[in-house]
Amino acid sequence: MRIQTSEDLDSIRKKGLQKIQPGRLRIGVGTSSCGIAVGGMALYNLLDEIIQTKNLDISLVKTGCIGFCKEEPIVSVSIPGKALVLLRKVKPDDVERIISLALHGDVPSDRVLCTISDWDHITGNLVYGNEFDTFPEYGEIPFFAHQKKVILRDSGLINPEDIDEYIGIGGYFAAYKALTSMKPDAIIDEVKRSGLRGRGGAGFPAGLKWEITKKAPGEEKFIVCNADEGDPGAYMNRNEMESDPHMLLEGMLIGAYAMGVSEGLIYIRAEYPLAIERLMLALDQARTYGLLGKNIFNTGFDFDIRIATGAGAFVCGESTALAASIEGKTGRPRLRPPRLTEKGVFGKPTDLNNVETWCNVPVIIAKGALWYSSIGAKGNTGTKVFSLVGKVDNIGMVEVPLGTSLHSIIYDIGNGGALGKEVKAVQTGGPSGGCIPVRLFDTPVDFESLNQVGTMMGSGGLVVMDEDTNMVDIARYFINFASGESCGKCVPCREGLKHMLLILNRIVAGKGTRQDIGLLRELAETVQKTSLCGLGQTAPNPVLTTMQYFKEEYDDLISPEA
Ligand SMILES: Cc1cc2nc3c(=O)[nH]c(=O)nc-3n(C[C@H](O)[C@H](O)[C@H](O)COP(=O)(O)O)c2cc1C
Ligand code: SF4
Repeated sequence: MRIQTSEDLDSIRKKGLQKIQPGRLRIGVGTSSCGIAVGGMALYNLLDEIIQTKNLDISLVKTGCIGFCKEEPIVSVSIPGKALVLLRKVKPDDVERIISLALHGDVPSDRVLCTISDWDHITGNLVYGNEFDTFPEYGEIPFFAHQKKVILRDSGLINPEDIDEYIGIGGYFAAYKALTSMKPDAIIDEVKRSGLRGRGGAGFPAGLKWEITKKAPGEEKFIVCNADEGDPGAYMNRNEMESDPHMLLEGMLIGAYAMGVSEGLIYIRAEYPLAIERLMLALDQARTYGLLGKNIFNTGFDFDIRIATGAGAFVCGESTALAASIEGKTGRPRLRPPRLTEKGVFGKPTDLNNVETWCNVPVIIAKGALWYSSIGAKGNTGTKVFSLVGKVDNIGMVEVPLGTSLHSIIYDIGNGGALGKEVKAVQTGGPSGGCIPVRLFDTPVDFESLNQVGTMMGSGGLVVMDEDTNMVDIARYFINFASGESCGKCVPCREGLKHMLLILNRIVAGKGTRQDIGLLRELAETVQKTSLCGLGQTAPNPVLTTMQYFKEEYDDLISPEA
């Protein structure tokens, strides 16, 4: 069926809602990579086998990740009329018990994480029901209570492999509104007024980049989604694509229409096979419904999206290297200008945005710029998804309004150090960022505040370090990574990082000298100032911040005679 009118879309919405709330028992299994890693798919298969063999009246679906990766595998049980129940750390041995209790309207209390009575999908609202009052409600769990879900609003609740469920909670209605009732310039204006800044790291205003691309001379243009995500410790984009792929496609569709572009590309690393599989399925389903292809919503607008896989080099996330890689060339950065908006993929004007940037677009159109800009802080509107990992108690996907303090993320949501250890620092922005000591945890998480303390937002990895972590070793880890990922095109990055690594190896091995400390700083500053692209320009940050905030740890490793 091709969806052409609002009535068509509405009829699929009803069908989708019927799938989410089928009027019979529905069991969902968290099967994002985090869930699968701890047995989610095995649980799904076991549940499926029992349901088939016993011919049970249960709707079984795969869901994405609700964010609390530490508690995976998470199984959701939705008994008609009752609150949705999230079960934590489910084991194969629990499966028979889950089924038999659920068929009798109950759940295994020893596995309950929390309940959800109703849910704001932002593009729609779902009321599940009450009962199970003895269990904590979602908002009473500290991990969830301090978050605000805009990007992750559907994750873990809908089936990412079924477009009907996305439409069921109001998906593609923003695209319908944009294409049928808004002028392209009005869409760009809305995105500009929302204040949305790119989530890939640099925080460039998205609406402005769209406007520049639209105004660039030439008929043929591209829009590209940067799903390269190579930072160690970062997996937000992967999770967003695995849990809710249509949110990304809808954002790109709206952007394409606004910029007058008929071809979109998603550049994604080959190490993300599940995200690729779910995106391919989502693309097929969107094409079947006519949401991609020719004459979308009967407006005369044509647009389709292709997937381009990269071999997984960190440098290919850099815009000009990414464009080269898409063209089948070696992914090496080139000098800018010209920027991609002038001369991008195949020499054509190209708008490049991060996965999460695109994912913000449907809600901006659905709820308006005013609503969106009321979230977050002035100049840093909206929310940001972080992957909270490392030596922190609650590991997972965390979404907070920009401007939230690091303290709140690491203590209120993350519950502090794992195994009762003291948190010492956090690395933001991966190898491009830096280590912030605990005394600066009042720093609000926004583009400028992080820059002021010597680090950067990056795409959203937060790696927590505790009292047992040696910060010089951390700096060495990131330099080792950046040095290995350097494309080798320019000398400061290729040779400078290599020498920084040699010095750090020496210091960590207890063979460093006082002179080494000075040399390390000099090299770091030279690499930063003279490298061609962002990789080299930012790679010294972990060294410079650890030298600034944890100087004593360097000193401790140098013997007094050296
Ligand atoms: C070495 C390097 C790696 C990068 N990796 C990514 C990445 O994985 N994903 C991403 O969206 N942006 C990455 N960026 C930033 C992109 O080049 C680009 O600025 C961004 O995708 C633009 O999208 P945005 O405006 O929506 O943030 C990287 C930049 C550099 C210098
Ligand atoms: S800074 Fe490094 S990664 Fe960037 S172009 Fe130069 S050698 Fe390549």
